[in-house]
Amino acid sequence: MNNTAPLLDVSGLTKRFSVKGRGPKGEKRFVHAVDNVSFTIARGEVVGLVGESGSGKTTIGRTLMRLTDPTAGVIAYEGTDIAHLPAREMMAFRRKIQMVFQDPFASLNPRRKVGQLIAEGMEIHKLGTRQKQDAEVKRLLTLVGLPADAGQRFPHEFSGGQRQRIGIARALAVAPGFIVADEPVSALDVSVQAQVLNLLQDLKEQLGLTILFISHDLAVVEHFCDRVIVLYLGRIMEIAPCHRLYSKPAHPYTEALLSAAPVPDPDRKGDRIVLEGDIPSPIDPPSGCVLRTRCRYALPDCAAVRPELREVAPNHFKACLRDDIL
Ligand SMILES: Nc1ncnc2c1ncn2[C@@H]1O[C@H](COP(=O)(O)OP(=O)(O)O)[C@@H](O)[C@H]1O
Ligand SMILES: [Mg+2]
Repeated sequence: MNNTAPLLDVSGLTKRFSVKGRGPKGEKRFVHAVDNVSFTIARGEVVGLVGESGSGKTTIGRTLMRLTDPTAGVIAYEGTDIAHLPAREMMAFRRKIQMVFQDPFASLNPRRKVGQLIAEGMEIHKLGTRQKQDAEVKRLLTLVGLPADAGQRFPHEFSGGQRQRIGIARALAVAPGFIVADEPVSALDVSVQAQVLNLLQDLKEQLGLTILFISHDLAVVEHFCDRVIVLYLGRIMEIAPCHRLYSKPAHPYTEALLSAAPVPDPDRKGDRIVLEGDIPSPIDPPSGCVLRTRCRYALPDCAAVRPELREVAPNHFKACLRDDIL
């Protein structure tokens, strides 16, 4: 295995959902949830995936897990295209990619004890003896900052933040190579959010975890991610190293998102930039650049040409025709 190759190499990922009813010309209609998305993630990297609600973040996460099949595209994990693996071969990969969900309570069976919930993946994938699994559960509980005997209790006996720790322990139990964390702190109070983020940060450093961290909130990923992908209407607008995205955003959409963020930051002065109008329907997205209907920099060309991602600085990509802004 070539260690400089990315762990995950996603290319042209597209997911359309069919919609009931037909369009004005009798044509079939689709929700364009994810449209030709390409990115890589290196081993040990934490990448943020940010965008408004409905921009396709969860759909990307679910297709990476093969919880849903992509319409098109390649998902190369350690060089194997898992987008097209038959179900049987997919089993082996299931263990390597784990998901941490937004609502830890909804994702945990309330009738099973925490220890059983954490051991579930080890049982499914037949990892170690029962005795080894019990010891592993205790180790994992301690690792995520819970008492080692928490395994004897039920999920409802824990707070939201503690349940998210349980969710993280559950994901780690099968020693995955890659974790998709879908809004893991969005349902938590701000102070608890910070604790769970700190835990993930520690685990990242201790275990060298590779994480795709999904959030609708740019402020959440700022201190946690190495790089950030900004998504709008199922398309990537910008990809940049974290510090760079916040200090020198290159895409009008990122600029607007940052200016709307409620953090008082003297380095980010200037007027609040508001995107005009509402987010268009993903059933009938605008031609050319999908942002153009709301973009204060849009030119006539933006309706005709679909902007490709291009590198504007080292490791910094944007999908925007204009060079003379930002
Ligand atoms: N199973 C589905 N059937 C039809 N449309 C869906 C389905 N899942 C998601 N969508 C649509 O796909 C788009 C992207 O959704 P989602 O990936 O959940 O966005 P996000 O996680 O960024 O909020 C939305 O317009 C959503 O309504
Ligand atoms: Mg979502």
